[in-house]
Amino acid sequence: MSESRGARWRRRAGWFVRHPYRWSRFLIDHEVRHQEMAFGEDPRFLDWRTLYRLCRRELARVVGVPTSTLDGYFAEIAPARVDLARQLAELPRAGALMQAPLLYVLVRALRPRAIVETGISSGYSSYFLLAGLRANGRGRLVSLGLPEVAVSVEHEARFAPERRVGARPVGWLVPDELRAPWEIRFGPSETLLEPVVRELDGDFDVFLHDSAHRYATMRFEYETAWSHLGPGGTLLSHDVHASAAWPEFVRAHPSAPEAELDHDLGIVRRLDVPGR
Ligand SMILES: C[S@@+](CC[C@H](N)C(=O)[O-])C[C@H]1O[C@@H](n2cnc3c(N)ncnc32)[C@H](O)[C@@H]1O
Repeated sequence: MSESRGARWRRRAGWFVRHPYRWSRFLIDHEVRHQEMAFGEDPRFLDWRTLYRLCRRELARVVGVPTSTLDGYFAEIAPARVDLARQLAELPRAGALMQAPLLYVLVRALRPRAIVETGISSGYSSYFLLAGLRANGRGRLVSLGLPEVAVSVEHEARFAPERRVGARPVGWLVPDELRAPWEIRFGPSETLLEPVVRELDGDFDVFLHDSAHRYATMRFEYETAWSHLGPGGTLLSHDVHASAAWPEFVRAHPSAPEAELDHDLGIVRRLDVPGR
């Protein structure tokens, strides 16, 4: 189920010991005041190593590979941090999934044929999923999201006034060299997800929920994706504490290995696919 109390305190202590000032500010601004933050203010963006170390064992258990294998995959993506920091540090996170570097490690370990994600925004999660697919040399990503701007002119002016780039479209963060296996479909997941997973039925292996974190949408996306995932498929969800949908879902599948990675990124694997 969710993190045990002991694991939660160990994780918090891990962050606090390494980044006492930044972690305290993060807790006050993000968790208490619910303020929009810049990427560069978030300890999870600044320190991928701590992010990874705090959950590598859980990740290895659920994925079913040795931690040493995952360590190798993590080492591959670590250099990208410098480049991303240069581009992103002052910009608003716009809801980005801050554990996204873990998605790269997962994609490398699972070698999926197809991935479906909901909720695109700037494309931080898409970036890591696509980087993993490129390193694998196979697989495609279908991302479903609303046709909004990811970062508004007002946001950018507040966080990085000297840049004056203007509004940034959905997915702006993903560079051209990663886009070949990427398909964006615009519209609410409530309308688009069913036809997409039906089309891919049994041929897609990873699903990530990061759209609207409300009970009905979460529950609908989990059930819809789960019923079409291929054998060994993996379902991920951001913001698992946002509603009762995640705990209910994992309770309903007691034999499926699951974990909560570094607070609020849930993962559950479908190792038996009856009827296929
Ligand atoms: C939390 S952000 C996604 C962040 C993104 N995964 C990343 O890592 O940068 C949520 C996004 O979901 C979109 N969204 C909200 N409701 C949705 C829905 N019903 N279907 C699809 N997308 C939705 C919002 O427009 C927003 O861009």
